[in-house]
Amino acid sequence: MTTHPPTEGGTAATARRNVLITGASSGIGEAVAERFRSDGSRLFLTGRRADPPAALRPDERYLAGDLCDEAFVERLVSEAVSELGPLDAVIACHGLQASGGITEMPLAEASRVLDANLLSVYAVIKHAVPAMREGGGAIVLVSSRLGLAGMPHEVLYNAAKGGLIMLGKGAALELAPQNIRVNIAAPGLTETPFIEAGFRRAADPEAHRAARAATIPLGRMARAEEVAEAIHFLGSPAASYITGAVLPIDGGYTAA
Ligand SMILES: NC(=O)c1ccc[n+]([C@@H]2O[C@H](COP(=O)([O-])OP(=O)(O)OC[C@H]3O[C@@H](n4cnc5c(N)ncnc54)[C@H](OP(=O)(O)O)[C@@H]3O)[C@@H](O)[C@H]2O)c1
Repeated sequence: MTTHPPTEGGTAATARRNVLITGASSGIGEAVAERFRSDGSRLFLTGRRADPPAALRPDERYLAGDLCDEAFVERLVSEAVSELGPLDAVIACHGLQASGGITEMPLAEASRVLDANLLSVYAVIKHAVPAMREGGGAIVLVSSRLGLAGMPHEVLYNAAKGGLIMLGKGAALELAPQNIRVNIAAPGLTETPFIEAGFRRAADPEAHRAARAATIPLGRMARAEEVAEAIHFLGSPAASYITGAVLPIDGGYTAA
């Protein structure tokens, strides 16, 4: 007898899917929201800043808050479910950059980096899983090339993004019986406010930008839309047999 796998999200692949996206007020998350918008998904977005993204449509919702505050995460998921119904996909794009030498970074700052890049993502998974549609769905975590490769003065970011990869792999195994897929995107240098702010602080921003691009086999940074395309794939039914995978989107940086 032929057995048929459960249909992801319990819906036809063409149905509008309910998608919660964190970090959607800027950069990669904003581009991810635009990509899901273009496939007709119903969106619930979040970021820290109070003002909603300019692209927000009247039928979409944006809730501002700090994902390091578990009470906010609970409220976010509850409002998303009230608005959309059960979730089909959860895309965790939020995070922050923090550089500093090992002997220089105060422990409070180290703790903030781990909270914002790792523990807050755990909180999102913890509260979102019970809100996902019976029959399955997709979770995508946004790690980094620096979750796969170390870099001086980035050790806490390395630790957080590397931890995120193992959080995703463990969650993929734990949630597989529920047909909830968990995958990890690992972008390389991507043109977003996150990176641009760092370039502007350099003595010669253009020279710094060119030097960083020269370290990438494809010879350039990614556009946020290129990264969003890969994240969208992992979060869509097109990736229905992929779980626990780490997808570098880094122009070949971690291939070496
Ligand atoms: N750009 C890159 O080169 C690159 C490379 C590899 C990985 N990544 C990862 O990709 C993700 C997005 O980066 P990006 O470049 O798009 O950065 P970005 O433009 O600075 O956007 C970061 C997003 O995360 C939100 N956020 C940060 N801390 C938060 C918190 N505690 N609670 C709730 N929201 C929070 C920000 O909200 P507000 O702006 O409203 O405060 C913003 O929406 C991050 O996880 C980053 O580590 C980026």
